[in-house]
Amino acid sequence: MNKNVTSEKQLSAEAACDFVKDGMIVGLGTGTSAEFAVRKIGKLVSEGLSIKGIPTSNRTKKLAENEGIPLIDFSESMFIDLTIDGADEIDGNLNMIKGGGAALLQEKIVASVSRTEIIVGSKTKIVDHLGAFPLPVEVIPFGWQVVFNQLESLHGNPDLRLNNGQPLVTDQGNYIIDCHFRKIETPKLLENQLNLIPGVVENGLFINLCTKMILADGEQLIVKDRKIKTI
Ligand code: A5P
Repeated sequence: MNKNVTSEKQLSAEAACDFVKDGMIVGLGTGTSAEFAVRKIGKLVSEGLSIKGIPTSNRTKKLAENEGIPLIDFSESMFIDLTIDGADEIDGNLNMIKGGGAALLQEKIVASVSRTEIIVGSKTKIVDHLGAFPLPVEVIPFGWQVVFNQLESLHGNPDLRLNNGQPLVTDQGNYIIDCHFRKIETPKLLENQLNLIPGVVENGLFINLCTKMILADGEQLIVKDRKIKTI
């Protein structure tokens, strides 16, 4: 990865950690940007910060355990105070495409119950319109070909995501079909349309879920808040 992009990811992720306070339940995102936040939170915990984390993927869980962050699941709390996660694309309304790392399902559940969802990363994530980045659609393995057909009818130009020549299997045992819509004019409508297809578990459009964006442009932070989110 480009060195500047990596340091932008680190700068923004660590800046977001200033919002992590004692006693909070913290959603731990997935991806290279979010990993910087998990490591920083691990450091803060080793210095005495008391929080509980809910990870968004198996790999984040492993990292958080290695970092000594106490973890819980939704049997202990239905709400999360603050989540720090990355995005593949983010637009001017703070709507996003996520799931490049195949963790969209857990990420979306966590985001949906987060009072604050901070998105971190490099300025390269900012777009005018969502859709240049392939939109991941998570589907159950049974009948994935049927869903694939429907995505073709929606002009999604779908591709089954592979890993070493085999379908990539998500943490929940599902497949990912990446769609190339190129320019998504009505993200909320498309999000709903996709989730109505039988066999679709979730898709990577995150609408009205980000409450604060903290991206880095070189050494500068670009901060933007979204107005209302009530849980
Ligand atoms: C994981 O499934 C994704 O949603 C990531 O948050 C997203 O792909 C951003 O990843 P990077 O921070 O690695 O660019």
